Amino acid sequence: MASLMQTLVALSLLSMFVCDVRGQLSSTFYAGTCPSLQQIVRSTLAQAVNKEPRMAASILRLFFHDCFVNGCDASILLDDTAAFTGEKNAFPNRNSARGYEVIDAIKSNVEAACRATVSCADILALAARDGVALLHNSSMASFIRRQVILTLFAAALVLCTARAQLSPAFYASTCPNLLRIVRSTMVQAVNREPRIAASILRLFFHDCFVNGCDASILLDDTATFTGEKNAFPNINSAGGYEVIDTIKSNVEAACQATVSCADILALAASDGVALLGGPTWRVQLGRRDATTASQSDANSKLPGPSSSLANLISLFTAQGLSARDMTALSGAHTIGQARCTTFRSHIYSDADVDPSFAALRQQNCPSAAGDDNLAPLDLQTPNRFDNEYYQNLVAKKGLLHSDQELFNNGTQDSW
Ligand code: HEM
Repeated sequence: MASLMQTLVALSLLSMFVCDVRGQLSSTFYAGTCPSLQQIVRSTLAQAVNKEPRMAASILRLFFHDCFVNGCDASILLDDTAAFTGEKNAFPNRNSARGYEVIDAIKSNVEAACRATVSCADILALAARDGVALLHNSSMASFIRRQVILTLFAAALVLCTARAQLSPAFYASTCPNLLRIVRSTMVQAVNREPRIAASILRLFFHDCFVNGCDASILLDDTATFTGEKNAFPNINSAGGYEVIDTIKSNVEAACQATVSCADILALAASDGVALLGGPTWRVQLGRRDATTASQSDANSKLPGPSSSLANLISLFTAQGLSARDMTALSGAHTIGQARCTTFRSHIYSDADVDPSFAALRQQNCPSAAGDDNLAPLDLQTPNRFDNEYYQNLVAKKGLLHSDQELFNNGTQDSW
């Protein structure tokens, strides 16, 4: 069966793979969360260009200079801080780049309509496009205009894709204490209650499987979407939200508006595993947080405890993960607990269960009561990240039906 090393590789794979999905840009990205965005950008820019037509050119150049330095990420708008010397005063920009105050004005107007939703990078891209369109009646021939616009779009896409690369050093200069802050908050939480490491690892898994590792699982329902927290696999089950909130507050106190919740969740999951004696890995960073979430996707994409092997394989394949990755990732069930309701039918009705194990679990999981009674996923060491989960499967002591499916005369037995 799978080794700890395989579990480790699969865990890092999980976050890389499912993050890429999230990295896709779309012209309707804010359709639900900020429907008036394009109108706001357009009208604020129109005023600025009416006052001074050159402004369209200045903003177009601002966009170009932004994109050429590590992607179209609005880094050109950042003032110097104690931790970094920014791009504003670099030779090509100093006493030359302009239009910052127009972008500021657009940002304020956008914030008034859709608070904390739209990135400055997207505002700059829209403003650059609108500026070109507003000079419609200038001497530029329409063919050239179209080419410029197409090329601008291509540049924005290519450069943003380059930017979508994750890196363990992503916050090295902007939040140098990040890893220490996450780790120390996790140490306190795990010391108080070791199971929290398991709950946060599962939170990360459930986040990643629903449209990428984008912290969408942390979002409460709003008027425009019904989120993932109350989806079947999460309701009365997923936990650890308050620890992520605490970490986020501590990180904000040190580096305001810098680190995504998605990255915090990825780091916390990794720290939790390490604190319970499991493997360590360098967490790739630079994820973007979602502004929306989907309950129906959470219901359809997450595996349930009564899943068959074929079912499990197909849900993991849909995420770009192989059957072998799945078996290795399931090694996470070496820690944590499950509720009686999730394993009752396995210990009462399945044939592939060791009888003494079934009898033991039935003591605290009656056939018609005690839905929320807990049992350890790993019989021997639920607070240690080790290999016993797989040994239990070989002994027919897997707690969930879905666990035992990984060793039940099927394709996964040999891993
Ligand atoms: C293979 C398909 C999987 C299924 C069907 C499954 C299902 C479950 C279920 C039903 C529970 C108990 C929930 C409850 O009682 O409320 C659970 C717990 C848990 N799962 Fe999974 N899981 C799967 C894969 C994974 C993966 C890939 C990870 C992480 C990489 C993971 C991590 C955990 C952890 C750590 C717990 C314990 C949580 C706690 O104690 O709070 N699971 N899982």
